[in-house]
Amino acid sequence: MSIKQARHQASRTLAAHAIEDAPLEAELLLMHLLGIDRAHLYVRLEDEFLPHEEQALDQLIDRRLSHEPLAYIIGHREFFGQDFYVAPGVLIPRAESELLVEEALDYVESHFPDKTHRSKRDEKVEKSGKELPTEHKSPAVEKYEKIAEIGTGSGAIAISLALRLPRATVYATDVSPRALEIARVNCEKHGVQDRVQLLEGDLLTPLPEPVDIIIANLPYIRDEEIAELSAEIRMYEPVVALAGGRDGLHRIRQLLVDAPQKLRPGGIVLIEIGPTQGEVLTSWARGLFPAARIALAHDLSGRARVLRVVLTRH
Ligand SMILES: C[S@@+](CC[C@H](N)C(=O)[O-])C[C@H]1O[C@@H](n2cnc3c(N)ncnc32)[C@H](O)[C@@H]1O
Repeated sequence: MSIKQARHQASRTLAAHAIEDAPLEAELLLMHLLGIDRAHLYVRLEDEFLPHEEQALDQLIDRRLSHEPLAYIIGHREFFGQDFYVAPGVLIPRAESELLVEEALDYVESHFPDKTHRSKRDEKVEKSGKELPTEHKSPAVEKYEKIAEIGTGSGAIAISLALRLPRATVYATDVSPRALEIARVNCEKHGVQDRVQLLEGDLLTPLPEPVDIIIANLPYIRDEEIAELSAEIRMYEPVVALAGGRDGLHRIRQLLVDAPQKLRPGGIVLIEIGPTQGEVLTSWARGLFPAARIALAHDLSGRARVLRVVLTRH
């Protein structure tokens, strides 16, 4: 059998078991098995698919048909254009959480414009390897953004921000030691282990200092809804990453209550929320922060997915 035939067969088997995106999943399983990227897979489509490879592919397909998420089987998932290691014990990063990263980058762009300008120019000089005379250097900027991601899981959000904001201080916290182990692997994979500080503990308690941005994708599913989730999520992803208490908002509320002690003046809190939670959380946050600017950010389908609370400067 050729690799092309193996791909076709795998795709048909997955589709017959109602796996969405069966053709894509079949390709990803083959790429994982053969240790090659998509371009090489396409080049090798007419090559022979060896009997031991057939056996190995069958085993991977069996795992997938037992509802094991593809990302756990192949050990990685893309987020914000980067590849992240994932394994059982950590939530698989979701595309919808990219909105949080975009919101944080927008905030930095509008609140730290001088810094952005300086860093771009100085980076150019650094790349050229030439030392500018002191009088031509940008004035020293005292303040770079400090960011805390609460409930970092695989670290995808914190690391995406650290990669985009090379001068930022980034803290990433989680209650799960297993999640932090995986986040550490990802920090090393992306070369940001010296700039992302991983801290274990409940919500904001491990933070050593106030920050400008608190960003969080905390559990927001109602406890009783957990049983209704797809088998992939319910059977494999960690409950601590999903269950948000009786109304789903337990941890989000606590984070908002604690936030003023760990936020610098003018700072922002960005929280991912369920599509039906916007109204209740907005009115609750208005009571808590009467002087803050509170708004919802929407995804491309127009669903409210991020609560944004910007404190006043004084
Ligand atoms: C929905 S997952 C998000 C993971 C990751 N930020 C992402 O978006 O892929 C929620 C994360 O919050 C962590 N978590 C749950 N309760 C927490 C708490 N009280 N304090 C800190 N982290 C918590 C979980 O362990 C999990 O890693």
